[in-house]
Amino acid sequence: MKKLAYIILSVLLFLSCRKGKENKEDILNQIEASYVEQYRPQFHFSPQEKWMNDPNGLVYNDGVYHLFYQYYPGATVWGPMHWGHATSRDLVKWEHKPIALFPDKKGFIFSGSAVVDNKNTSGFGIDGKVPLVAIYTYFRLDIEKKGGVNTQTQGIAYSLDNGNTWTKYAGNPVIDNTALKDFRDPKVFWHNETESWIMALVAGNHAKFYRSKDLKAWEYISEFGRNVGAHGGVWECPDLFKLKVEGTEEEKWVLIISIGSGGPNGGSGTQYFVGDFDGKTFTTNQTEFKWLDWGTDNYAGVTYNNVPSEDRIFIGWMSNWQYALSTPTTTWRSAMTVPRKLRLKKYEDSYLLHNYPLETLNTLIEKSISESINIEPNQEKILNFNNLNQAEIAFKTDSKDFNLKLANKEGGFVSIKFDPISKLVIIDRTSSGKKDFQPEFGNKLHYMSIDELPNSIFEVRILMDQSSMELFINEGQYVMTEQLFPNKNYTEMFINNTNNSAILSLKDFSVAKVSSIWE
Ligand code: FRU
Repeated sequence: MKKLAYIILSVLLFLSCRKGKENKEDILNQIEASYVEQYRPQFHFSPQEKWMNDPNGLVYNDGVYHLFYQYYPGATVWGPMHWGHATSRDLVKWEHKPIALFPDKKGFIFSGSAVVDNKNTSGFGIDGKVPLVAIYTYFRLDIEKKGGVNTQTQGIAYSLDNGNTWTKYAGNPVIDNTALKDFRDPKVFWHNETESWIMALVAGNHAKFYRSKDLKAWEYISEFGRNVGAHGGVWECPDLFKLKVEGTEEEKWVLIISIGSGGPNGGSGTQYFVGDFDGKTFTTNQTEFKWLDWGTDNYAGVTYNNVPSEDRIFIGWMSNWQYALSTPTTTWRSAMTVPRKLRLKKYEDSYLLHNYPLETLNTLIEKSISESINIEPNQEKILNFNNLNQAEIAFKTDSKDFNLKLANKEGGFVSIKFDPISKLVIIDRTSSGKKDFQPEFGNKLHYMSIDELPNSIFEVRILMDQSSMELFINEGQYVMTEQLFPNKNYTEMFINNTNNSAILSLKDFSVAKVSSIWE
């Protein structure tokens, strides 16, 4: 596709060159826009142009996975929010769609979710058409500017053509708010046991739950979290769902909560709670903080509704409010994580939520030869590559005592260190490339505690995509997602055995190119 587009554009360019300079520049701009810019992710979703933040309305319907997202078409920074829209049939390749929801006099369109109203409980369906219903937050900047707190209410809209066109409900808002400053990000799902819709919503330092029979009239049922979990920032983007504990018949409920600041390595972060939900109240015995991702760049992530399989599929926004507005990209800003499957596992007494790329991503990974690498104690191995910035690096090991560094010849590098004494994985992006756009971006090391990582062999998998690195350990038991802006592609890999006595053995070691989804 991209090649064909390029040929057509080249012909147009040739013709336009004969017409005049202005046209030529237009066409050059179009070529620029075709996902070849510096730092443009090649296998992650990013908007064609302008500003994007949270994923919204993740829903599967009639063969199509929808990805709506917080979008401002007027600039590459945050502004009056719309819902941008893209669709996919395999969660690998994406097709851009027209903007789905525009701000109106009730406010900007903030984050929310979407459901397939199969039973037509809302009555929006006509002629047997099943409505897709979006539930979102309205935000009134004008009221906030005047010092008012009643800025956020909940609205709904529906589509009868699988998300192509939307009609806002005339009775909006469906949940009014006169008292709370922060009151947003409704995540709605169908609760079979009570035959009702449940909404999780955040209200500053806690989550609130509502129930409805028709998506229009909502009854408040409970709240959770004032004194539990991390509270370094305002709670945002909740998600509540049931998961089977892998290898058992036990079922638990997981509540995901993003926090705007106070994440494990500064700025935004995503925590989760494992507990129970009886159709009314969410409860947990959990006392410790649990982070879905220890990196700095996985925020506001939520999961798909109505997926045809048992899979719980998650997408996060690959940025951090600390510096999101000033990352050094050109015509667009921000990307999403690759879609990840969530699995719940029990280790001793603790439940851990794994998140790991969907298998369909493998269709993009070029076949490569895997080998075994053995490195003597305190020795280093250096490997050379054409380009490590659009690649998958994978191996298996039982060692937690080594350092892996990806570098370019200009002195730029990012490194991942496993430290067995402190039981930490440490990412160093302080010399990775551009970082001066915001002091907090590259000023310190990032830590991940790997307490529950087994002593037996485990997998390490790294996805590099132009301006991001996703690190998955033991198939998503421990994850760090980080943005990077290298000045030049990384071409060298330094593997250091930091152990004094044991040989470092990396099995099934492979480095493979990942192809672009935009070609
Ligand atoms: C999270 C968030 C949400 C809000 C949206 C506004 O990143 O702050 O709480 O709905 O972004 O764009």
